[in-house]
Amino acid sequence: MPFNLEPYPYDRLNGIREIASKHAGGAIDLSVGSPIDPPPESAMRALAMPEGVRSYPPSAGTLTYREACASWITRRFGVSIDAGDVGACVGTKEFVASLPGYLKLLQESRGEGGKRDTVLFPELSYPTYSMGARLAGLRAVGVPAGGRAALEYIAPEDRDRALLLWANSPSNPTGLLSELPVYADWGREHGILVVSDECYADYIWDDEGWPHTILDGSDGVLAVHSLSKRSNFAGARAGFYAGDPSVVAFLVELRKHAGLMVPSPIQSAAIAALADDGHVQRQREIYYSRLVRLVRILGALNVKTTLPQGSFYLWVRAPSHIGDCWDMTEWLAGRLGIVVSPGEFYGASGKGYVRIAAVVSDEHLEIIEKRASN
Ligand SMILES: Cc1ncc(COP(=O)(O)O)c(C=O)c1O
Repeated sequence: MPFNLEPYPYDRLNGIREIASKHAGGAIDLSVGSPIDPPPESAMRALAMPEGVRSYPPSAGTLTYREACASWITRRFGVSIDAGDVGACVGTKEFVASLPGYLKLLQESRGEGGKRDTVLFPELSYPTYSMGARLAGLRAVGVPAGGRAALEYIAPEDRDRALLLWANSPSNPTGLLSELPVYADWGREHGILVVSDECYADYIWDDEGWPHTILDGSDGVLAVHSLSKRSNFAGARAGFYAGDPSVVAFLVELRKHAGLMVPSPIQSAAIAALADDGHVQRQREIYYSRLVRLVRILGALNVKTTLPQGSFYLWVRAPSHIGDCWDMTEWLAGRLGIVVSPGEFYGASGKGYVRIAAVVSDEHLEIIEKRASN
Protein backbone atom coordinates (compact mmCIF):
# COMPACT_ATOMS: atom_id res chain seq x y z
CA MET A 1 0.00 0.00 0.00
CA PRO A 2 1.53 3.41 -0.93
CA PHE A 3 2.24 5.73 1.96
CA ASN A 4 0.28 8.95 1.51
CA LEU A 5 1.06 11.53 4.12
CA GLU A 6 -1.88 13.82 4.77
CA PRO A 7 -1.29 17.39 6.05
CA TYR A 8 -0.50 17.67 9.77
CA PRO A 9 -3.92 18.18 11.43
CA TYR A 10 -3.22 21.51 13.11
CA ASP A 11 -1.83 22.95 9.85
CA ARG A 12 -5.36 22.59 8.47
CA LEU A 13 -6.55 25.32 10.83
CA ASN A 14 -4.87 28.26 9.05
CA GLY A 15 -8.13 29.44 7.44
CA ILE A 16 -9.90 29.21 10.82
CA ARG A 17 -7.09 31.23 12.42
CA GLU A 18 -7.66 33.97 9.87
CA ILE A 19 -11.36 34.16 10.74
CA ALA A 20 -10.64 34.26 14.49
CA SER A 21 -7.95 36.91 14.10
CA LYS A 22 -10.51 39.39 12.73
CA HIS A 23 -11.63 39.98 16.34
CA ALA A 24 -10.09 43.00 18.06
CA GLY A 25 -7.53 41.42 20.37
CA GLY A 26 -6.83 38.66 17.86
CA ALA A 27 -7.30 34.91 17.73
CA ILE A 28 -7.15 32.87 20.93
CA ASP A 29 -5.83 29.38 20.29
CA LEU A 30 -7.46 26.51 22.17
CA SER A 31 -6.69 23.90 19.54
CA VAL A 32 -3.42 22.25 20.59
CA GLY A 33 -3.12 20.87 24.14
CA SER A 34 0.12 22.76 24.69
CA PRO A 35 0.50 23.91 28.32
CA ILE A 36 0.81 27.66 28.99
CA ASP A 37 1.49 27.68 32.75
CA PRO A 38 4.95 27.71 34.31
CA PRO A 39 6.78 24.51 35.24
CA PRO A 40 7.56 23.98 38.95
CA GLU A 41 10.34 26.17 40.33
CA SER A 42 12.19 23.09 41.58
CA ALA A 43 12.55 21.92 37.97
CA MET A 44 13.62 25.35 36.71
CA ARG A 45 16.30 25.54 39.43
CA ALA A 46 17.63 22.13 38.41
CA LEU A 47 17.72 23.31 34.79
CA ALA A 48 19.77 26.34 35.78
CA MET A 49 22.44 24.12 37.34
CA PRO A 50 22.79 21.50 34.65
CA GLU A 51 24.67 18.35 35.41
CA GLY A 52 26.19 15.98 32.94
CA VAL A 53 26.20 18.19 29.83
CA ARG A 54 29.70 17.09 28.82
CA SER A 55 28.96 13.44 28.33
CA TYR A 56 26.24 11.53 26.55
CA PRO A 57 23.25 10.74 28.73
CA PRO A 58 22.26 7.09 29.01
CA SER A 59 19.46 6.42 26.56
CA ALA A 60 17.52 4.41 29.16
CA GLY A 61 17.71 7.38 31.52
CA THR A 62 20.14 7.72 34.41
CA LEU A 63 19.57 5.37 37.31
CA THR A 64 18.40 8.38 39.33
CA TYR A 65 15.88 9.26 36.61
CA ARG A 66 14.54 5.72 36.45
CA GLU A 67 14.34 5.56 40.24
CA ALA A 68 12.50 8.90 40.36
CA CYS A 69 9.96 7.57 37.83
CA ALA A 70 9.51 4.31 39.74
CA SER A 71 9.09 6.03 43.07
CA TRP A 72 6.59 8.50 41.57
CA ILE A 73 4.57 5.54 40.23
CA THR A 74 4.49 4.06 43.74
CA ARG A 75 3.55 7.36 45.37
CA ARG A 76 0.93 8.27 42.80
CA PHE A 77 -0.73 4.92 42.15
CA GLY A 78 0.21 2.74 45.13
CA VAL A 79 1.86 0.05 42.99
CA SER A 80 5.52 -0.83 43.02
CA ILE A 81 7.75 -1.10 39.99
CA ASP A 82 11.45 -1.83 39.70
CA ALA A 83 13.56 1.08 38.39
CA GLY A 84 15.10 -1.43 35.97
CA ASP A 85 11.67 -1.85 34.36
CA VAL A 86 11.50 1.85 33.44
CA GLY A 87 12.95 3.54 30.35
CA ALA A 88 13.22 7.23 29.46
CA CYS A 89 11.63 8.68 26.34
CA VAL A 90 12.07 12.06 24.70
CA GLY A 91 8.56 13.17 25.54
CA THR A 92 6.03 10.48 24.77
CA LYS A 93 5.02 11.37 21.21
CA GLU A 94 8.18 9.87 19.74
CA PHE A 95 7.58 6.75 21.85
CA VAL A 96 3.96 6.42 20.70
CA ALA A 97 4.99 6.92 17.07
CA SER A 98 7.92 4.48 17.14
CA LEU A 99 6.62 1.71 19.42
CA PRO A 100 4.71 -0.37 16.83
CA GLY A 101 7.78 -0.58 14.57
CA TYR A 102 9.95 -1.61 17.49
CA LEU A 103 7.44 -4.23 18.64
CA LYS A 104 7.43 -5.60 15.10
CA LEU A 105 11.20 -6.05 15.47
CA LEU A 106 10.70 -7.66 18.88
CA GLN A 107 8.30 -10.12 17.25
CA GLU A 108 10.92 -10.89 14.59
CA SER A 109 13.65 -11.32 17.20
CA ARG A 110 11.43 -13.92 18.87
CA GLY A 111 11.11 -15.79 15.56
CA GLU A 112 7.43 -14.89 15.23
CA GLY A 113 7.83 -12.34 12.42
CA GLY A 114 4.71 -11.35 10.50
CA LYS A 115 2.26 -13.26 12.70
CA ARG A 116 0.81 -10.09 14.14
CA ASP A 117 0.45 -7.09 11.85
CA THR A 118 -2.25 -5.00 13.55
CA VAL A 119 -2.28 -2.13 16.02
CA LEU A 120 -5.56 -1.70 17.93
CA PHE A 121 -6.18 1.80 19.19
CA PRO A 122 -9.17 3.82 20.46
CA GLU A 123 -11.12 4.87 17.37
CA LEU A 124 -11.43 8.40 18.78
CA SER A 125 -7.97 9.28 19.95
CA TYR A 126 -4.67 11.07 19.78
CA PRO A 127 -3.74 10.66 16.08
CA THR A 128 -0.22 9.37 16.77
CA TYR A 129 -1.49 5.89 17.75
CA SER A 130 -2.62 5.20 14.20
CA MET A 131 0.32 7.09 12.69
CA GLY A 132 2.73 4.81 14.61
CA ALA A 133 1.09 1.78 13.01
CA ARG A 134 1.26 3.33 9.56
CA LEU A 135 4.92 4.35 9.98
CA ALA A 136 5.69 0.69 10.70
CA GLY A 137 3.67 -0.58 7.72
CA LEU A 138 1.14 -2.19 10.09
CA ARG A 139 -2.67 -2.19 10.02
CA ALA A 140 -4.26 0.43 12.27
CA VAL A 141 -7.65 -0.72 13.53
CA GLY A 142 -9.77 1.62 15.63
CA VAL A 143 -11.77 0.08 18.48
CA PRO A 144 -14.44 1.64 20.70
CA ALA A 145 -12.94 3.00 23.89
CA GLY A 146 -13.82 4.18 27.34
CA GLY A 147 -15.83 2.52 30.08
CA ARG A 148 -15.86 -1.21 30.73
CA ALA A 149 -17.32 -2.98 27.77
CA ALA A 150 -15.46 -1.52 24.82
CA LEU A 151 -13.22 -4.54 24.27
CA GLU A 152 -16.21 -6.76 23.43
CA TYR A 153 -16.43 -4.97 20.09
CA ILE A 154 -13.02 -6.04 18.86
CA ALA A 155 -13.49 -8.43 15.93
CA PRO A 156 -11.85 -11.83 16.54
CA GLU A 157 -9.93 -11.52 13.21
CA ASP A 158 -8.40 -8.22 14.38
CA ARG A 159 -7.70 -9.56 17.84
CA ASP A 160 -5.84 -12.58 16.46
CA ARG A 161 -3.61 -10.30 14.36
CA ALA A 162 -2.98 -7.69 17.08
CA LEU A 163 0.56 -6.78 18.04
CA LEU A 164 -0.62 -4.31 20.67
CA LEU A 165 -3.66 -2.57 22.05
CA TRP A 166 -3.46 1.08 23.08
CA ALA A 167 -5.46 2.38 26.03
CA ASN A 168 -5.67 6.06 26.92
CA SER A 169 -7.37 6.97 30.17
CA PRO A 170 -8.37 9.73 30.66
CA SER A 171 -8.79 10.00 26.93
CA ASN A 172 -7.70 12.74 24.62
CA PRO A 173 -10.09 13.95 23.18
CA THR A 174 -13.17 12.57 24.95
CA GLY A 175 -11.99 12.76 28.56
CA LEU A 176 -13.49 9.29 29.18
CA LEU A 177 -11.93 6.92 31.69
CA SER A 178 -11.34 3.25 30.89
CA GLU A 179 -11.37 0.39 33.33
CA LEU A 180 -7.70 -0.44 32.90
CA PRO A 181 -7.61 -3.80 34.76
CA VAL A 182 -10.15 -5.12 32.23
CA TYR A 183 -7.75 -4.10 29.45
CA ALA A 184 -4.82 -5.80 31.22
CA ASP A 185 -6.78 -9.03 31.73
CA TRP A 186 -7.96 -9.03 28.12
CA GLY A 187 -4.38 -8.56 26.86
CA ARG A 188 -3.04 -11.34 29.07
CA GLU A 189 -5.83 -13.68 28.02
CA HIS A 190 -5.05 -13.15 24.33
CA GLY A 191 -1.27 -12.71 24.56
CA ILE A 192 -1.47 -9.08 23.34
CA LEU A 193 0.65 -6.34 24.87
CA VAL A 194 -1.55 -3.56 26.28
CA VAL A 195 0.09 -0.15 26.30
CA SER A 196 -1.62 2.43 28.44
CA ASP A 197 -0.98 6.10 27.75
CA GLU A 198 -1.62 7.73 31.11
CA CYS A 199 -0.37 11.26 30.46
CA TYR A 200 -3.55 12.88 31.85
CA ALA A 201 -3.73 10.71 34.99
CA ASP A 202 -3.24 13.75 37.24
CA TYR A 203 -6.30 15.44 35.79
CA ILE A 204 -9.23 13.25 36.79
CA TRP A 205 -12.42 15.01 37.90
CA ASP A 206 -15.07 12.33 38.00
CA ASP A 207 -13.50 9.23 39.44
CA GLU A 208 -15.19 5.90 38.74
CA GLY A 209 -13.09 4.23 41.42
CA TRP A 210 -11.08 2.39 38.77
CA PRO A 211 -7.27 2.23 39.05
CA HIS A 212 -5.60 5.06 37.11
CA THR A 213 -2.69 2.95 35.93
CA ILE A 214 -2.44 -0.35 34.08
CA LEU A 215 0.47 -1.33 36.32
CA ASP A 216 -1.38 -3.66 38.66
CA GLY A 217 1.40 -6.07 37.76
CA SER A 218 3.88 -5.60 34.96
CA ASP A 219 3.39 -8.76 32.89
CA GLY A 220 2.05 -8.03 29.41
CA VAL A 221 1.51 -4.32 29.97
CA LEU A 222 3.33 -1.01 29.62
CA ALA A 223 2.34 2.36 31.07
CA VAL A 224 3.50 5.55 29.34
CA HIS A 225 3.89 8.81 31.26
CA SER A 226 4.82 12.33 30.30
CA LEU A 227 6.09 15.34 32.20
CA SER A 228 4.52 17.58 29.55
CA LYS A 229 1.03 17.80 31.02
CA ARG A 230 1.79 17.01 34.67
CA SER A 231 4.50 19.64 35.03
CA ASN A 232 4.05 22.00 32.05
CA PHE A 233 7.25 20.59 30.65
CA ALA A 234 6.22 20.00 27.03
CA GLY A 235 9.07 22.09 25.66
CA ALA A 236 11.63 20.12 27.66
CA ARG A 237 10.62 16.69 26.23
CA ALA A 238 10.70 14.17 29.05
CA GLY A 239 8.66 11.06 29.65
CA PHE A 240 9.01 7.40 30.47
CA TYR A 241 7.57 3.96 29.92
CA ALA A 242 7.40 1.20 32.48
CA GLY A 243 6.12 -2.32 32.78
CA ASP A 244 6.77 -5.75 31.28
CA PRO A 245 10.46 -6.48 32.03
CA SER A 246 11.24 -8.29 28.77
CA VAL A 247 9.59 -5.63 26.60
CA VAL A 248 11.26 -2.77 28.51
CA ALA A 249 14.66 -4.50 28.27
CA PHE A 250 14.25 -4.89 24.48
CA LEU A 251 13.09 -1.29 23.98
CA VAL A 252 15.85 0.14 26.15
CA GLU A 253 18.45 -1.73 24.08
CA LEU A 254 16.94 -0.85 20.71
CA ARG A 255 16.37 2.79 21.58
CA LYS A 256 20.05 3.03 22.56
CA HIS A 257 20.99 2.00 19.01
CA ALA A 258 18.50 4.51 17.61
CA GLY A 259 20.18 7.36 19.52
CA LEU A 260 17.14 8.38 21.54
CA MET A 261 18.27 10.27 24.64
CA VAL A 262 16.67 12.70 27.05
CA PRO A 263 19.31 15.45 27.53
CA SER A 264 20.99 15.29 30.96
CA PRO A 265 19.85 18.73 32.20
CA ILE A 266 16.27 17.79 31.30
CA GLN A 267 16.60 14.53 33.19
CA SER A 268 17.79 16.44 36.30
CA ALA A 269 14.88 18.87 36.02
CA ALA A 270 12.37 16.07 35.47
CA ILE A 271 13.64 14.29 38.60
CA ALA A 272 12.93 17.47 40.58
CA ALA A 273 9.47 17.83 39.00
CA LEU A 274 8.57 14.20 39.73
CA ALA A 275 9.43 14.67 43.41
CA ASP A 276 7.17 17.72 43.65
CA ASP A 277 3.41 17.17 44.04
CA GLY A 278 2.44 20.68 45.17
CA HIS A 279 2.53 22.20 41.71
CA VAL A 280 0.29 19.43 40.36
CA GLN A 281 -2.40 20.20 42.92
CA ARG A 282 -2.28 23.88 41.91
CA GLN A 283 -2.40 22.99 38.24
CA ARG A 284 -5.43 20.76 38.82
CA GLU A 285 -7.27 23.68 40.36
CA ILE A 286 -6.32 25.94 37.44
CA TYR A 287 -7.56 23.48 34.79
CA TYR A 288 -10.73 22.69 36.68
CA SER A 289 -11.71 26.34 37.02
CA ARG A 290 -10.95 27.00 33.34
CA LEU A 291 -13.06 24.03 32.26
CA VAL A 292 -15.97 25.21 34.41
CA ARG A 293 -15.69 28.72 32.97
CA LEU A 294 -15.57 27.47 29.39
CA VAL A 295 -18.66 25.30 29.98
CA ARG A 296 -20.43 28.40 31.29
CA ILE A 297 -19.41 30.56 28.33
CA LEU A 298 -20.64 27.93 25.86
CA GLY A 299 -23.87 27.52 27.84
CA ALA A 300 -24.53 31.24 27.48
CA LEU A 301 -24.42 30.69 23.71
CA ASN A 302 -26.82 27.75 23.98
CA VAL A 303 -24.10 25.21 23.35
CA LYS A 304 -24.64 22.59 26.05
CA THR A 305 -21.64 20.65 27.24
CA THR A 306 -20.42 18.96 30.41
CA LEU A 307 -17.11 18.59 32.20
CA PRO A 308 -14.96 15.65 31.08
CA GLN A 309 -14.30 12.73 33.43
CA GLY A 310 -10.63 13.59 33.05
CA SER A 311 -8.07 15.56 30.95
CA PHE A 312 -8.18 19.29 30.23
CA TYR A 313 -10.33 19.14 27.12
CA LEU A 314 -14.00 19.79 26.49
CA TRP A 315 -15.46 17.42 23.93
CA VAL A 316 -18.39 19.38 22.62
CA ARG A 317 -21.15 18.12 20.35
CA ALA A 318 -21.92 20.58 17.55
CA PRO A 319 -25.58 21.66 17.79
CA SER A 320 -27.56 20.48 14.77
CA HIS A 321 -28.42 24.03 13.67
CA ILE A 322 -24.69 24.75 13.34
CA GLY A 323 -23.64 21.59 11.49
CA ASP A 324 -20.58 19.33 11.64
CA CYS A 325 -17.20 19.76 13.34
CA TRP A 326 -15.83 22.12 10.69
CA ASP A 327 -18.97 24.28 10.72
CA MET A 328 -18.75 24.46 14.51
CA THR A 329 -15.02 25.30 14.40
CA GLU A 330 -15.74 28.10 11.96
CA TRP A 331 -18.70 29.32 14.02
CA LEU A 332 -16.60 29.50 17.20
CA ALA A 333 -13.84 31.36 15.32
CA GLY A 334 -16.37 33.90 14.04
CA ARG A 335 -18.42 34.23 17.23
CA LEU A 336 -15.69 34.07 19.93
CA GLY A 337 -12.44 34.48 18.02
CA ILE A 338 -11.22 31.12 19.32
CA VAL A 339 -9.46 28.36 17.38
CA VAL A 340 -10.53 24.85 18.40
CA SER A 341 -9.96 21.41 16.93
CA PRO A 342 -12.55 19.76 14.67
CA GLY A 343 -13.39 16.35 16.11
CA GLU A 344 -12.48 14.51 12.92
CA PHE A 345 -8.80 15.14 13.76
CA TYR A 346 -9.26 12.31 16.25
CA GLY A 347 -11.19 9.86 14.10
CA ALA A 348 -14.14 9.69 11.72
CA SER A 349 -16.64 9.30 14.57
CA GLY A 350 -15.57 12.71 15.88
CA LYS A 351 -17.19 14.48 12.93
CA GLY A 352 -20.02 15.87 15.06
CA TYR A 353 -17.74 17.29 17.80
CA VAL A 354 -15.06 19.84 18.52
CA ARG A 355 -12.29 19.65 21.10
CA ILE A 356 -11.55 22.72 23.19
CA ALA A 357 -8.31 22.72 25.21
CA ALA A 358 -8.35 24.64 28.50
CA VAL A 359 -4.90 26.05 27.83
CA VAL A 360 -6.04 29.63 28.09
CA SER A 361 -5.06 32.41 30.48
CA ASP A 362 -7.53 34.26 32.73
CA GLU A 363 -7.00 37.41 30.61
CA HIS A 364 -7.99 35.51 27.49
CA LEU A 365 -10.96 33.91 29.24
CA GLU A 366 -12.16 37.39 30.13
CA ILE A 367 -11.86 38.48 26.49
CA ILE A 368 -13.78 35.38 25.39
CA GLU A 369 -16.49 36.08 27.99
CA LYS A 370 -16.86 39.64 26.69
CA ARG A 371 -17.12 38.46 23.10
CA ALA A 372 -19.77 35.95 24.15
CA SER A 373 -21.88 38.64 25.76
CA ASN A 374 -21.81 40.91 22.68
C1 LIG B 1 -2.89 11.19 24.62
C2 LIG B 1 -1.56 11.82 24.40
N1 LIG B 1 -0.47 11.05 24.44
C3 LIG B 1 0.76 11.56 24.25
C4 LIG B 1 0.94 12.90 24.02
C5 LIG B 1 2.32 13.41 23.76
O1 LIG B 1 2.82 14.21 24.77
P1 LIG B 1 4.37 14.49 24.90
O2 LIG B 1 5.05 14.06 23.64
O3 LIG B 1 4.50 15.94 25.11
O4 LIG B 1 4.84 13.67 26.06
C6 LIG B 1 -0.17 13.75 23.98
C7 LIG B 1 -0.01 15.18 23.69
O5 LIG B 1 -0.92 15.93 23.50
C8 LIG B 1 -1.45 13.19 24.19
O6 LIG B 1 -2.56 13.94 24.18
